[in-house]
Amino acid sequence: MIRNDELEQILEEIDLKSDVPADEPMRQYYFIKKAREIIDLESQKLGRRLTADGETFGCQMNAKDSEKLTGILKAVGFEVIDSEDADLVFYNTCTVRDNANQRVYGRLGIVGGMKKKNPHKKIALCGCMMQEPSVIEKIKKSYSFVDLIFGTHNIYKFAELLSDMYSSDRMIIDIWEDTDKIVEDLPAKRKYSFKSGVNIMYGCNNYCSYCIVPYVRGRERSRDPKDIIREIEKLVSEGVIEVMLLGQNVNSYGRTLNEPMSFSQLLREVEKIEGLERIRFMTSHPKDLSDELIDVMKNSKKICRHLHLPLQAGSTRILKAMNRCYTKEQYLELAHKIRREIPDISLTTDIIVGFPGETAADVDETIEVVKEVGYDNAFTFIYSKRTGTPAAGMPNPISDAEIKENFDRLLKVVQETARSRIGRLTGEVHSVLVEEINEHDDALVTGRLSNNTIVHFKGDSGLIGKIVNVKLTQACGFYYMGEKI
Ligand code: 5AD
Ligand code: SF4
Repeated sequence: MIRNDELEQILEEIDLKSDVPADEPMRQYYFIKKAREIIDLESQKLGRRLTADGETFGCQMNAKDSEKLTGILKAVGFEVIDSEDADLVFYNTCTVRDNANQRVYGRLGIVGGMKKKNPHKKIALCGCMMQEPSVIEKIKKSYSFVDLIFGTHNIYKFAELLSDMYSSDRMIIDIWEDTDKIVEDLPAKRKYSFKSGVNIMYGCNNYCSYCIVPYVRGRERSRDPKDIIREIEKLVSEGVIEVMLLGQNVNSYGRTLNEPMSFSQLLREVEKIEGLERIRFMTSHPKDLSDELIDVMKNSKKICRHLHLPLQAGSTRILKAMNRCYTKEQYLELAHKIRREIPDISLTTDIIVGFPGETAADVDETIEVVKEVGYDNAFTFIYSKRTGTPAAGMPNPISDAEIKENFDRLLKVVQETARSRIGRLTGEVHSVLVEEINEHDDALVTGRLSNNTIVHFKGDSGLIGKIVNVKLTQACGFYYMGEKI
C-alpha cells in the first residue's frame, strides 16, 4: 500500500514521453499517470467525471483485492460510486462453488442490457472465476460486450490494463496461469478507516480434493515479514486499530521464505506494534495448527478470542477422500486442546455436505463433532463439483434429495449449538469495537466482541472505530443487545 501523498510525489517525477519502466511498481506508477490522462480526456468529452463501481463476490481475499482495485480506480481519476449505473463496472468473481459463478452470469446479463443503451460503458471481469479457461470461452461466446478480463495474479496491473482497454475496441484478456511475483506499494481504498485486512500470503498448496482454490490462486507464496510489519505500522499511523491477517492457510505462513519463519513468530512481531489493539487471522488449516500458535494466542493481549477452524467433514473416511490430512479424532483432540488452553475462545467452522459418497452415517459423525466442539457459528455448504479437481472424477451414488436431507439435519444442530453457545456471556461486560450505525435503527450502533460476535447498543456515529465497554444485556439468537457503560 502507498499513501496518496507519497504516490503524488512519485507521479510528479514521471515523464510519460520517456520509456515505459520495466520494473514494478514503477511501471504501474507510469500507467497510473497515463490512465489519468485518458480518464481526464474521457471525462471532458462526457462533461462530467467518469464514475466506477466494483462488485465483489467470495471471500476476504477478494474483498481485499477489490480494495486494491478501487484504490487504483480512484488514483487514475474515477469517482467511485456504489451503483452498476457507473461508467465502468468491475466484477471481482469467485468460483469456489457453482452458485457464485451463476450469480456473475446473472449480473452480466443485466449490465449487458445497460451497456446497449449506453455504449461508452465499460465492463471488466477479474478474480478467481477468470482463471478457468472454460469461463473465458463462455464469456467470449455469450458476453462479447465485456471489455476487459484479467485474473488473480495480475490485479496490480489494473492501471496498465485500463490504459489498454481505453485504447482498444477489442476485448482485452490478460490471464496468467501462476506467478511467483508479489508487487507491493500500490494504492488501496479501504472500506473501513479503523480496521483492515492485510495479506500475509497468497495461493494455496493443500489440494483438498474438492477445492479449486489452488488452481485459481496459484502456489503458496508468503510475503516478507518486514513488508507485512511495515504495512501494519503504516495502517496504524492512519488510525487502524484492528487487522485481519489474510491467507488461505495462515498456519503454513513463512515456509517458502528465504529465511523461514513460523506464523506464531510473525504474530509475536505484529503484537509488538504500538497502537494496534486487535489482531485477527483467517484461515487456519487444522493439520498445521501448532502448539506454539495456541501458546501465542493464549498469552496475547491483542489476538482476538476467535479461531475459524474448518472441519469440512466429521467422518475420517470422507476426510481422507477430501485429502484433509487429519482424522475426526485428531480434529477433536485439537479442538479440546484449544478450549482447554484458551477457555474463552469461540470456534467457528466450515462444513461441506454431499461430498461424493458421503452417506447419512458419515453426516451423523459430522453432527457428533459439531455437538462435541460446540461451534459459535458454522458455515455449511452443499458440495459443488469443480471441474479439474480430483473430486470431480469421483462417482457419487447419493441422491440430491438425500444430500438435502443430510444438510438440513446438520443445519438444525449447527443453529441450536450456536444459539446456546452465544448466549453464554449474557450479563457480562466486554469490550466492543464499534463498526457502524445499525442498519435498521439509527439510534443504535453495531460492533464486535473480541470473539467476533455482533453486539447492538445505543450510541451514535462518534463511537465508530472506538473500543468501548458494553454490558451484554440480552442474547438474541446470533447476536447480543447491550448497554454501553
Ligand atoms: N463445494 C462446496 N463447498 C466448498 N468449499 C470449498 N470448495 C467447495 C466445493 N467444491 C467451502 C469449504 C471452504 C469454504 C471457503 O468453501 O468449506 O472452507
Ligand atoms: Fe476466495 Fe476461493 Fe472464492 Fe477465490 S475461489 S474468491 S479464493 S473463496
